[in-house]
Amino acid sequence: SGPGTMSPTGQATGAAPARMAQSGAHLTNAQGTRLHDTDHSLKAGPRGPVLLQDHHLREKVMHFDHERIPERVVHARGAAAHGVFKSYGTAAAVSKAAFLAAGAETPVFVRFSTVLGSRGSADTVRDTRGFATKFYTDEGVFDLVGNNMPVFFIQDAIKFPDIIHAGKPHPDREIPQAQSAHDTFWDFVTLHTEATHHTLWNMSDRGIPRSYRMMEGFGVHTFRLVAADGSTTLVKFHWKPKLGVHSLVWEEAQIAGGVDPDFHRRDLADAIEAGAYPEWELGIQTFPDTPEQTFEGIDLLDATNLVPEELAPVQPIGLLTLNRNPSNYFAETEQVAFHVGHLVPGIDITDDPLLAGRLFSYLDTQITRLAGPNFSQLPINRPHAPVNDMLRDGFHQDAVHRGVAPYRPNSLDGGCPFLAGADTGAYVETPVRVPEATKVREAPESFSDHFSQPRRFWLSMSAVEREHIIGAYTFELGKCYEQAVKERALQVLANIDGELCARVAEGLGLPAPEPTLPPADVAPSPALSQVGQSWPTD
Ligand code: HEM
Repeated sequence: SGPGTMSPTGQATGAAPARMAQSGAHLTNAQGTRLHDTDHSLKAGPRGPVLLQDHHLREKVMHFDHERIPERVVHARGAAAHGVFKSYGTAAAVSKAAFLAAGAETPVFVRFSTVLGSRGSADTVRDTRGFATKFYTDEGVFDLVGNNMPVFFIQDAIKFPDIIHAGKPHPDREIPQAQSAHDTFWDFVTLHTEATHHTLWNMSDRGIPRSYRMMEGFGVHTFRLVAADGSTTLVKFHWKPKLGVHSLVWEEAQIAGGVDPDFHRRDLADAIEAGAYPEWELGIQTFPDTPEQTFEGIDLLDATNLVPEELAPVQPIGLLTLNRNPSNYFAETEQVAFHVGHLVPGIDITDDPLLAGRLFSYLDTQITRLAGPNFSQLPINRPHAPVNDMLRDGFHQDAVHRGVAPYRPNSLDGGCPFLAGADTGAYVETPVRVPEATKVREAPESFSDHFSQPRRFWLSMSAVEREHIIGAYTFELGKCYEQAVKERALQVLANIDGELCARVAEGLGLPAPEPTLPPADVAPSPALSQVGQSWPTD
């Protein structure tokens, strides 16, 4: 590109052409000067001391010294792929988002991950899996940053540092790597019983997927969709894999993890390489946007709850196909920056207090991880829509901005109207009524039932899935040193189900406690069991 042309961020690039890595026939230094030797330091004689004036040696080693960036504070280990999302148009009645219109095709980048392990940990551990999708829509980037489980450990983001501190390796010995089988994890989840539901999902077969291609994905929170006429609908997002939902059994995971710690990463890359493109249908459960924001008695703002599919069927709205592997892990998989606040017109948030904290956290962490505020200019993060913002300067600023007046309105640069309204396709927050309230630090009463949904999950399992869950609790709690933690965990299990508690207690060689609550009166939800699950029926 020549002088004054626009970069993909929509900003002027100035005179210099974009520097492509490894272009040109000759090896050069970072300034483009040709090198004749990069294998020998400059020395005073072949066996003499290396000279300080060897600027090529210094540049080469200096750059190498700074190759590593901090890994993600969570979800450090991941694998990703490019693809396309094709909309069926079935969501057009409830959302004006252009990428949900009939026939719209949108490029996407999807990153799967484990949560607790560091960048070099094994794929096959028992853990939640991340399922984060970046939609490069014509109206800006939309990120759906979800997991392979529909519920979360905590209801309020203020506890996120605490649950992660508890789940990461013990600070004294830095063990265990990448799994939850240790005292602090179980201490936390038994003292904060809102974590019971997510923990049960973790101990189920969902905690060890067979393949990223065979996992469901969930947006977890309730979102608010906005239609062209301004009407709103509350929704939960679901990804349903065309290959069905499958897991490794414990013994398979141990062998696969030993033989190939990159089991899931390799599986994804090999499948795409072979043309066996993985596919998922995106679906939504819809709920009326009432002032209470509840559905059939379930608080839609409580991220430890799901809505059973019998009560609100998942309606397919589009198809995701992953069809291209990244060509450079660092540039794409490592540098991609997802954020739940990347929204487009037609998709809005709700008052879920977990979501509120996430809206802060992702941008914040990326300032450290990607060294400054300009990471949206990295190629993998660039919107495919034109960018004309008033953000300027900062570390790693790639654009050479034109004009002198980065403020609106101005009378010097001209051209850009002060503010564009909804009629021009701008993002306008839904004018939701905020109830009159007193400022408090407390949870609502509707967040206090921590056992009904775990019991529903347990009752929905087949016999073989129950055996796996009993085995998982027994193994994980067996790794704890503290007797009091194990006993408290058994108390939690007693409040889910007597048989579950008795079997795990037997495995641990401890007495099974009596429940402290009457068993919740809930019906099984067949969609929660993996047995025979596949989607959709073709
Ligand atoms: C990263 C999902 C809750 C903070 C991630 C990633 C996923 C994810 C999938 C990896 C993104 C990638 O592949 O790059 C979720 C889900 C949550 C949740 C589904 C609950 C419903 C939270 C909360 C916080 C948080 C409550 C903080 C208050 C982070 C941070 C990262 C992260 C700091 C690293 C981001 C980066 O370095 O780019 N999360 N998360 N998450 N999450 Fe969450």
